[in-house]
Amino acid sequence: MKVARVSALVISLALCAAGCDSGEEEPSALLPADYAATYTEVRDCRTSGDHDLHHVRILADPAALAPYRDRDQPFPVGSLVVKEEFDFGDLDCTGPIVQWTVMQKLEDGSAPDQLDWTWQKIDTKRRVVTQNDTRCTGCHLVCGASPEGYEGTCAVP
Ligand code: HEC
Repeated sequence: MKVARVSALVISLALCAAGCDSGEEEPSALLPADYAATYTEVRDCRTSGDHDLHHVRILADPAALAPYRDRDQPFPVGSLVVKEEFDFGDLDCTGPIVQWTVMQKLEDGSAPDQLDWTWQKIDTKRRVVTQNDTRCTGCHLVCGASPEGYEGTCAVP
């Protein structure tokens, strides 16, 4: 009995050493749960060839709204742009959201390899699936610098 209990403890410690010792806490979602109350749609429902062929809507928080829409001023630090992603077949974006992708502005020059934004993919349970995935930045580096892009964003509103 005693031996079994001790070995169970040893096993759980060993599991934790493997699984809990990464030193990295899972990041929390940058997107507030109640974002819909204050964010404004800046690009309406349409298909996205670049985001998994999902149907998407783009919304900006109050601070990102004017820079995204008018493109005549920089995004303030902390401002956030979110893409709501819907199923491929959800032509008017009225069904359930399948995931969010968000970008939140950082201080200019603070993270050049991230184009000075934090990038997250968030699932429907509000878990962060990826943060600062190089695929996001790789693509946005190219399209963000194209005529459609503006400061790392990729679409004409
Ligand atoms: C294959 C290229 C590509 C990849 C990879 C990519 N994006 Fe995008 N993204 C785009 C393009 C093009 C748009 C604008 C057109 C559209 O809506 O599809 C966009 C739009 C967005 C927007 C809305 C703001 C805007 O207009 O740019 C956000 C937020 C965003 N992407 C975040 C992300 C995140 C986070 C990732 C990684 C998880 C990511 N993107 C990966 C190409 C890409």
